[in-house]
Amino acid sequence: SRSINLAVVPGDGIGREVVAQGLKVLSAVLPGDVKLRTEEYDLGAKRWHATGETLPDAELERLRTHDAILLGAVGDPSVPSGVLERGLLLKLRFAFDHYVNLRPSKLFPNTATPLAGRPEIDFVVVREGTEGPYTGNGGSLRTGTPAEVATEVSVNTAYGVERVVRDAYERAKARPRKKLTLVHKNNVLVYAGHLWKNIFDRIGQEYPEVTTDYLHVDAATIFLVTRPERFDVIVTDNLFGDIITDLAAAVTGGIGLAASGNINPTGAFPSMFEPVHGSAPDIAGTGKADPTAAVLSVALMLRHLGLDTEAARIEEAVSADLAERSDPRTTDEIGDALAVRVTG
Ligand code: NAD
Ligand code: IPM
Ligand code: MN
Repeated sequence: SRSINLAVVPGDGIGREVVAQGLKVLSAVLPGDVKLRTEEYDLGAKRWHATGETLPDAELERLRTHDAILLGAVGDPSVPSGVLERGLLLKLRFAFDHYVNLRPSKLFPNTATPLAGRPEIDFVVVREGTEGPYTGNGGSLRTGTPAEVATEVSVNTAYGVERVVRDAYERAKARPRKKLTLVHKNNVLVYAGHLWKNIFDRIGQEYPEVTTDYLHVDAATIFLVTRPERFDVIVTDNLFGDIITDLAAAVTGGIGLAASGNINPTGAFPSMFEPVHGSAPDIAGTGKADPTAAVLSVALMLRHLGLDTEAARIEEAVSADLAERSDPRTTDEIGDALAVRVTG
């Protein structure tokens, strides 16, 4: 019989609220022969205030033993910016070598978007997850003085770029349109930009069936708003990928719908699934958080674990729910409605 040994990191703010709905839908969609075991990890602002810990090594070792991790969001106004984001979220992405940060964008029906009614917006961003300006390679001199100097060095290795570019080509090859766009800024960031472009072109020779193009990231933001249907698969660096996926979410239905997977394709470490959004302190506790992104992240997780039928059931439930959605509903109500749909 099949089983899922799931680690749950609800985290902070609306992270906790939306993860509860994700788990509700997960329990509802799983067939009887799939045993679900969940273990909740108390990590985030509360833990940090109580103990000063972000992610102790012992917890990291325990997290490693799970089949997958479901994360809500971390970050809280009461904690200095970066402490939890770097010490918990990025630590997990780096420790478990989540080099493919997968962020699909689909135009959902009946949502508040400037693109409503436009057909066939369906692309996926393959965001590099372990390098770029995120590695913490930098420092500050003469901190706090008028002569302060800060550096934040982007790290790009041929190894790291090649593996994520190859993954993006494989994904493009498996999709009907077979198109891959590299997004970077090689007119200014000439060292990293040329590394990316050279590897992109070289690997491309192994994928003659995949059509390729290149966009500078600033121009990519134009097309994401004016002509998003031009995109199929996008591959890009860690920071550009962070920025364009919030934009992509906003134009295709809202940040409350955008799901992501932090994937280690080798299977050496558990992959981690989380909404693209953060802990949204401005709406935490109000019941206004849309749990759909968390629910769709559960679908990405199920597909990663080979439960394609159940993943599709969740995605169909979300489409149907959005198509009929009218009155504003609470976080709980949306979760309940989706749980009913996946069983029905
Ligand atoms: P955010 O995504 O939390 O919020 C941006 C805006 O989107 C806010 O107005 C918020 O109310 C709205 N929003 C977000 N999710 C929503 C949802 N599900 N339903 C309805 N509205 C939603 O980004 P931010 O304000 O820049 O960051 C807040 C905190 O979250 C910071 O500490 C940040 O570092 C952290 N953060 C964490 C993650 C993560 O853990 N994966 C991701 C992004 C930001
Ligand atoms: C995201 C978030 C994170 C990122 C932060 C919180 C570290 O914005 O998951 O998109 O920049 O990757
Ligand atoms: Mn982000």
